[in-house]
Amino acid sequence: MPSTLFWYVAGEYYLGTLVIRHELNGDLADEEGGHIGYHVVAPWRRQGHATRMLSAGLDRCRTLGLQRVLLCCDPDNEASRRVILRNGGEPDAPRHGEDRFWIDLVRQV
Ligand SMILES: CC(C)(COP(=O)(O)OP(=O)(O)OC[C@H]1O[C@@H](n2cnc3c(N)ncnc32)[C@H](O)[C@@H]1OP(=O)(O)O)[C@@H](O)C(=O)NCCC(=O)NCCS
Repeated sequence: MPSTLFWYVAGEYYLGTLVIRHELNGDLADEEGGHIGYHVVAPWRRQGHATRMLSAGLDRCRTLGLQRVLLCCDPDNEASRRVILRNGGEPDAPRHGEDRFWIDLVRQV
């Protein structure tokens, strides 16, 4: 499916990657993944990068015309859960062992 991959860098340093899946097929919606995935390389963690990367990613999603996005994470992934909540994630019922959150891109500007 169409997707966009962003590399986040600071000067010569690679900080991490964020991927936006432009649409969800049935599998992604029901299983794992959601619209957006990300990681920050270990030396750069706990400095707010993922929170800012997701915020920037949500702006890109708006330009793609998405009205709301699904994000998924493991229940024990406290860091990712916080990243999602900081960006307005609203919990939905967990599925297949994953926590699921929706971010409304129309209401939240
Ligand atoms: C999840 C991940 C992207 C977070 O990246 P990060 O740049 O460290 O995140 P931030 O610095 O923006 O921190 C976000 C919040 O999580 C908290 N946090 C970060 N690491 C944490 C940890 N190991 N345990 C608990 N909380 C943590 C931060 O304190 C911050 O909390 P706050 O908003 O209440 O201040 C990073 O840990 C990672 O790449 N993990 C492996 C891949 C992954 O899990 N990706 C997400 C899949 S859903």
